[in-house]
Amino acid sequence: MRSPKRLRLTVFLALGLATGVPTAATSAEAGPTLTGTVTDSTGVPIVGAMVSVSTGKPAHRITVFSDHQGRFATPPLDGAGPYDVRARRIGWRDRQAVGVAPGEALTLPLERETDATALAAQLPANRWYALLLDELEGQPEMREQLVRQCTYCHQQGSLHTRIERSPEQWQKVIALMGRMGGVISPALAEQVPEIFTRAYAPATAVPRLTADRDEPDFAPPPHPEARKAVIEEWDLGHPASMQHDVTMHPDGRLYSVDMTQDMLYRLDPSVPGGDRKSWKVPHGDLELGGALGTGGAPTPSTANARVGPHSLQVAPDGAIWSTLALGNQLARFDPKTEAWTIHPLEEGFYPHTLRFDARGRIWYTVAVSNHVGVLDLATGEHQWIRLPTKTWGQAIMVRMLPVFLWLAQKMDLGAAGEGGGGGSDLPEMPIPYGIDVSPTGDIWFSQLNNHQIGRIDPDTFEVEMVQTPFSAPRRLRFDSQGRLWIPGFSSSVLARFDPETRAFETWELPIEPLGSETPYALHVDRRTDTVWVCGTNSDTLIRFEPPSERFTVYPLPTRVTYTREIDFDAQGRVWTSNSNVPSWQIEGGLPKVIRLDPDPTARARVATTAP
Ligand code: HEC
Repeated sequence: MRSPKRLRLTVFLALGLATGVPTAATSAEAGPTLTGTVTDSTGVPIVGAMVSVSTGKPAHRITVFSDHQGRFATPPLDGAGPYDVRARRIGWRDRQAVGVAPGEALTLPLERETDATALAAQLPANRWYALLLDELEGQPEMREQLVRQCTYCHQQGSLHTRIERSPEQWQKVIALMGRMGGVISPALAEQVPEIFTRAYAPATAVPRLTADRDEPDFAPPPHPEARKAVIEEWDLGHPASMQHDVTMHPDGRLYSVDMTQDMLYRLDPSVPGGDRKSWKVPHGDLELGGALGTGGAPTPSTANARVGPHSLQVAPDGAIWSTLALGNQLARFDPKTEAWTIHPLEEGFYPHTLRFDARGRIWYTVAVSNHVGVLDLATGEHQWIRLPTKTWGQAIMVRMLPVFLWLAQKMDLGAAGEGGGGGSDLPEMPIPYGIDVSPTGDIWFSQLNNHQIGRIDPDTFEVEMVQTPFSAPRRLRFDSQGRLWIPGFSSSVLARFDPETRAFETWELPIEPLGSETPYALHVDRRTDTVWVCGTNSDTLIRFEPPSERFTVYPLPTRVTYTREIDFDAQGRVWTSNSNVPSWQIEGGLPKVIRLDPDPTARARVATTAP
């Protein structure tokens, strides 16, 4: 039976506006919507429950929040159903409804979660991780190392990373992580088996995590501002994929790179369910692990990476440019002809994050060898700027790099420490990381491990460095006024730097327990200068409005949502990806791209008042 779509939609919108029930944008071919109520088992409304409706395979999932009366309403859905529905709020058991037909108003009663172990398992990874950080209280250097070296591929404190292991098993994990790039010092490696075992032992962790379960601030509903949001997820790739970065094309399609499978993906969200297309990035005669050889591949066992596409941007001419971190190349993909052009690096290792300046040049960090590269698209001139190091040890390491890499191909350097799980005392590399171009054309970048940011003069290529008053500056961005916004990865802060006055301002991210967040990236929507920060270890996106200094925390629907890059579409919606590697640690086991619409009601109002 077909539902009278247009009528239903009008009624829905009128209702929505009159009562404040969340509504969303509509389009000509909009499908039906689902409405209903989330209550407890006695019929009392549950506020701020996440109601997720999925269809299709690969799935497209739309999530809305229940309002102050427990009511929810989805935007128009794909197709005619049936749909799978899940209502979720921490403190209650998930409620699943499978094969729901459009048209029926749903009542979704949730039962209280009375089992403390199950309740603790509902909490985001950062709540567990905080227990581990407590173990390192009084050892700030160890804490700093653990956060920086152990949380840049996957969340810590998530289900897979906290299951009980014997000290011997923990030692094996440390050795395996070291081989993939998560190298810690022998002094920390020695402590790890004990602190992980102690922090995550259910007998002590569960009571600690659930002690204040009856207090109102145990897991409060999201703020009413966050509850307005509509969040959409599109499954993209397969369990061995990793969607690293995303970029929004002006044509409304999202591009994403799969670093472990050497693929470029495109999602067209205007097609119901999402139209997905993918291309293999050419790898020439490179072998697994690419230019870094097998010793340098950041790989789960299922990885199949020769070039390792990492970051991507849309060029002024509409082409997609990507850094091929393992292939040591830049790649250009022409969406019209679907042809690739490859530009090798003649100097440096591991091209990382790229940005365009207004003069047609690509600037990119070269992470492992401590360079910034610049490619002039008009002249073809390609140059590499060597960045300062902080210590002699670092200077020697970056200069000796070709020798190390050659050695790494011949032997397993990661396992060369004592007893396999012994860690390494080699000096930390500086690691140039984020990069951005100021409105006046200056180039600024971060040096992650050196806790510095730096400026490159766009004409003379002169470099100057500035120490940050917080640790681990990661992916930074300018606002429209030329102020630089920076996430402090291991310091759990948002910072603003004024290049004129050289003053820093910092705000602690409002994720409980304070200090347990690891913000990987941020982006500024330059139309409003609103800042969006990745809540990488807490399954959230965090909005910051500079005039009022107000934070809004948006919970995301999938457990283990590891976010690394943010972009915006023309409607001001926020795009990111679930980039946890390995992706089998993600709830449901699949990587995703994600769109968050912070204010769909505004769009619905426009739609209803339009002629
Ligand atoms: C370079 C990326 C990377 C870094 C850095 C990293 N990990 Fe992992 N981690 C992985 C991958 C990939 C897997 C899955 C490994 C597999 O089973 O093939 C994993 C799995 C794990 C697991 C689950 C193992 C299991 O048996 O399922 C734990 C626990 C873990 N990591 C802890 C850590 C710790 C502690 C650190 C810091 C020393 C760390 N990770 C740093 C990539 C990383």
